[in-house]
Amino acid sequence: AGEQLRYDGQTVVVTGAGGGLGRAYALFFASRGANVVVNDLGGSFKGEGGGSKAADAVVNEITSAGGKATANYDSVENGDKIIETAIKAYGRVDVLINNAGILRDISFKNMKDQDWDLIMKVHVVGAYKCARAAWPHFRKQKYGRVINTASAAGLFGSFGQTNYSAAKLAQVGFTETLAKEGAKYNIHANVIAPIAASRMTATVMPPEVLDKLKPEWVVPLVAVLVHKSSEETGSIFEVGGGHIAKLRWQRAKGTLLRADDSFTPAALLKKWDGVADFSEPSYPTGPANFMELLEDAHKLPPNDPAEPIRYDGKVAL
Ligand code: NAI
Repeated sequence: AGEQLRYDGQTVVVTGAGGGLGRAYALFFASRGANVVVNDLGGSFKGEGGGSKAADAVVNEITSAGGKATANYDSVENGDKIIETAIKAYGRVDVLINNAGILRDISFKNMKDQDWDLIMKVHVVGAYKCARAAWPHFRKQKYGRVINTASAAGLFGSFGQTNYSAAKLAQVGFTETLAKEGAKYNIHANVIAPIAASRMTATVMPPEVLDKLKPEWVVPLVAVLVHKSSEETGSIFEVGGGHIAKLRWQRAKGTLLRADDSFTPAALLKKWDGVADFSEPSYPTGPANFMELLEDAHKLPPNDPAEPIRYDGKVAL
């Protein structure tokens, strides 16, 4: 217990903390000395309805165990109100866990604007609004920790979840840029793709699998990432059921063609192998060195087959 990570005096805001993963985070951080803002608007997993019950139940669990917690019932779309609750109750905010989420699963063929828009509002606008409201506090105190919540659906695609996939991969780009802008101020941002038993997964996985995927088993990673001792930032993690792994990009060898009139689709097809050659990959943390590639491309001889692009509207293959 001497090595226990603690969060005394810090304020941790957890969105969607009325159940599932959010509840597990809230209980943990309160048990380790933090003041916790338990946000939840209390609706269904499809984003219908609302109420104070879900957040209140978790606050009661925390306070009856001797911890410190305050409820907030706003939608994450009103992130400023959630951060305001933290400032009013505790005078500061140190950690933001953007966790609230809903599903509107439907095949793309049948997707309605409402299904798309609601998912964007809760996941994308919600994460933005909460982080935006916390940001000035983080900068001023030169300290902040953000966790955003992506999903395997966003990283790899998932049948019936175009809306959710788009919103979840958005968390990755959002996190990468927050990490860059926050670096100077000791603000760290990381993104997790969790897997855990909750009402969200209750209908898509069998009980014997769900038993092995407790939300509590996502907590240790989040605890480590938001601790003041952590240097980790801008990273993507898969986490669930005891498995934790970082994910990163991989770049193929690539192919380089001279960019002139000899750069035809046929010339590209001839050198296609390199485009998808992952035999000696690199692991980029930024875009390809465009200026260098440009220079190299111009040292190349004209492409073969040197059939020029026709400008009559048809491209020569
Ligand atoms: P959950 O449904 O148990 O928890 C989500 C909570 O967010 C609910 O209590 C809900 O009331 C709340 N919420 C929904 N919309 C809100 C809004 N506009 N404002 C405030 N609160 C709102 O689901 P779970 O599984 O705990 O999900 C937590 C996060 O993890 C979500 O972002 C979800 O997309 C993500 N996730 C979960 C996976 C899993 O295996 N459980 C897999 C991949 C991602």
